Amino acid sequence: MKKYILSIDQGTTSTRSILFSTEGTICHSAQEEFPQHFPQDGWVEHEPEDLWQSVLSTCAKVFAEAAIQPEQIGTIGITNQRETTLIWDRATGVPIYRAIVWQDRRTSAYCETLKAAGHEGLINAKTGLLIDPYFSATKIRWILDQVPGAQERAERGELAFGTVDSYLIWHLTCGAVHRTDATNASRTLIFNIHKQEWDSELLELFNIPASLLPEVMDSSADFGITDPSIFGAGIPINGVAGDQQAALFGQTCFRPGMAKSTYGTGCFLMLNTGTKALTSESRLLTTVAYRLKGETCYALEGSIFAAGTTIQWLRDGLKLIGNAGETESLAEQTAANHGVYLVPAFTGLGAPYWDPTARGAIFGLTRDTGIKEIVTAGLQSVCYQTKDLQKAMESDGVRATALRVDGGMVVNNWVLQFLADMLGATVDRPTIIETTALGAAYLAGLQAGYFESLETLEKLWQCERTFSPQISKAQRDDYYSGWKTSVNRVQLESK
Ligand code: G3P
Repeated sequence: MKKYILSIDQGTTSTRSILFSTEGTICHSAQEEFPQHFPQDGWVEHEPEDLWQSVLSTCAKVFAEAAIQPEQIGTIGITNQRETTLIWDRATGVPIYRAIVWQDRRTSAYCETLKAAGHEGLINAKTGLLIDPYFSATKIRWILDQVPGAQERAERGELAFGTVDSYLIWHLTCGAVHRTDATNASRTLIFNIHKQEWDSELLELFNIPASLLPEVMDSSADFGITDPSIFGAGIPINGVAGDQQAALFGQTCFRPGMAKSTYGTGCFLMLNTGTKALTSESRLLTTVAYRLKGETCYALEGSIFAAGTTIQWLRDGLKLIGNAGETESLAEQTAANHGVYLVPAFTGLGAPYWDPTARGAIFGLTRDTGIKEIVTAGLQSVCYQTKDLQKAMESDGVRATALRVDGGMVVNNWVLQFLADMLGATVDRPTIIETTALGAAYLAGLQAGYFESLETLEKLWQCERTFSPQISKAQRDDYYSGWKTSVNRVQLESK
């Protein structure tokens, strides 16, 4: 009986289920968007049931299209939007509040008080992160404070916390398993990335009962077996990683100095630093890249909150385009010196600014500015932000040996050419750009024995096209200084 690997990629705006062969090629895939909820300025929520149902229905679609039996799925890999926080009732599996999404800024004021009290040094030393509403801990605190009786119930051990991976594992196993992996744990602000354990001092600081927490596993591990009532057969879950870490894995960036940048809802540049947890002086994050057989590989990460989100806003908010595919030809028709800058600080600015109160703006509008200039400025904002991250990494003394890109936006050749121009470096696009799902499939396949080693996986990576810089340094500096001025103005406005 031919076996397959099922990869579930639960992202911020959509869920994808992809069926891979045991050689790592894509056989079938299904994708579904689900509603976003913005109850107040800066708040972003998901209905947990939407996430779960989108997983079930995309898996069902893939099974039907591929005409396979559940017994043919040898293993499952899960990858997910990170930091997004859920707390549910252990008895019923029902969440006590909606999922608070990573982009949500409701805990900005709380974060300010933590910073003012001088906790950032300790938190950074233990977790590799900064104090920002982005991470899970302050969201956990908010739910425990705001939902009546939640703190007491948590203390009595009646509730469970999880990032989306844990929540899905819980449901896939009908409540039998409460686990996460080290990459997801490393985004919560309560996980000690050096000791690889939940940190009791930080739990005390946030007043989070340890009984809420999932068991932390390697990224390739036995996470449990799906309950037969879900897919019709018990299937082992063998791979779990946060989506950015999974993308790094799918890009086979296994050696120190290798980097990838994923253009999904946000954009996340990650550079493998090997077994060394490098501390950034430029407000980048130190995070777990993956943990295999108890050995932790670390990465330096630059996190940008708005990439694909900007294009979604141009499409759904401003209705300037009908679909993302139109942006490429619009950009091609736009004069290079159009002078418009769009700063997509819809939910604040991430690395290296970390300004949760900043809000977006468009600069340089003139009487002849039209749709194409604004759309182009939206695409360029993604590249300028990547440049910000490259500069931050360089001031930390690291330069990527190669940049591999992936995510939905990288089908756009114009964006990748402008990116190479801005970075002054080559940009490699692989044949499989669904590297997030691929990484989860690799992690699961390693544990299930379909892939022998990291060296086996490295040989599977193939470059489809390399983009090389084509503009002069003077031109690059000129474009980029316009971006820096625009960001400064946005930040001044938020003060
Ligand atoms: O940290 C947030 C990140 O995991 C979200 O990823 O792919 O939904 O932009 P994505």
